Amino acid sequence: MDRIESGWDDYWAETFRVKHRLSIPGIQQYDKMVVDFCIESLALEPGKEILDIACGAGDHCIEFAKRELKVTGFDISKRLIEVAKERAKEEGVEVNFLIGDMRKMDFSNRFQGAVLLSHSFGFFNHEENITVLERTHSALAKGGKMLLDLMNPYQLPRFQKTWASLEGGYLLSEPHVLDASAGVLKGRPAKFIDVEKGHIILMNQDALSNNDIRMYTALEIHSMLNDVGFGNVEFYGQNKLPRMPYSATSERMVVLATK
Ligand SMILES: C[S@@+](CC[C@H](N)C(=O)[O-])C[C@H]1O[C@@H](n2cnc3c(N)ncnc32)[C@H](O)[C@@H]1O
Repeated sequence: MDRIESGWDDYWAETFRVKHRLSIPGIQQYDKMVVDFCIESLALEPGKEILDIACGAGDHCIEFAKRELKVTGFDISKRLIEVAKERAKEEGVEVNFLIGDMRKMDFSNRFQGAVLLSHSFGFFNHEENITVLERTHSALAKGGKMLLDLMNPYQLPRFQKTWASLEGGYLLSEPHVLDASAGVLKGRPAKFIDVEKGHIILMNQDALSNNDIRMYTALEIHSMLNDVGFGNVEFYGQNKLPRMPYSATSERMVVLATK
C-alpha cells in the first residue's frame, strides 16, 4: 500500500475530532454533562456570552447555544469550523464560529465565561501557554470566569494502542508517552488504513506537533493564573456535577478562575 503524509487541518482534525469522536459510545451524553457542569461552575444565566476556545467541531458550542447562551467558538482548524457551522445550522442554533490561533485572540472585556475543554491547554512552549491565559483574561469581562478541563497529571489515563473502525477504513492510534523530564505528553502518531482508496495515511510533522501537551501541576497553574491577573483559583476533580474536590486520584483536574 502507498503511504501518504497528511497535516492536521487537511486530514487529521476531521478524522480525530469528528469521525473518531462520534464513534465513542455515549459521547453526546458526556458532552451534555460537561456543558451542565460548565454552566453551573461559570454561573452563567441565559443570554450571557461564552467563549469556547479550541472548540473543535462545535460539539459543546451547540449545547451551550441550546441552553440560550450567546456562544463564540474559536478554533485554528478551518475544516472543523466548517463542520461546526454546518452542524449548528442543522440543529437550528446560532453560534459565532471563528477561525484563529488562541495565542493571537484579541477579544477585550466581553465574555462572562470562557472554556478550554478536553485538555485544550498546554499545546505550546511555556511562554506561549502563558500568552493563551493572558489572551483569555483579556477576553473576559470583569468578574468573568475561565474553566480549564484538564487531565490530572497524577492520574494519566492508561493509554493503549487502539484500532477503530471508521468510515472508509481503520484508525490505528499509538499510546501517548509522557516525557517526564520535559513535562510533555507526546502525541499519538496515528495511521489510517484507507481501505477504499488503498493507501495508508500517516501524520506529518505539523499534525504530530499539534498533539504534544505540556502537563502542569495545580501549583504551577495556580501561579501562572495569578501572574496574569486571575483570582479565586479553584480546583475540582471531575468535569461533571456534582463538583468534587480535586485530589491526586481524581479523574480530571478542572481549574476555575475569576477575572
Ligand atoms: C483536544 S481538541 C478539543 C476540541 C473540543 N474542545 C472538544 O472538547 O472536543 C483541541 C482543539 O484545539 C484546536 N487547536 C490546536 N491548536 C490551536 C490553536 N493554536 N488555536 C486554536 N485552536 C487550536 C484543534 O484544532 C482542536 O480542535
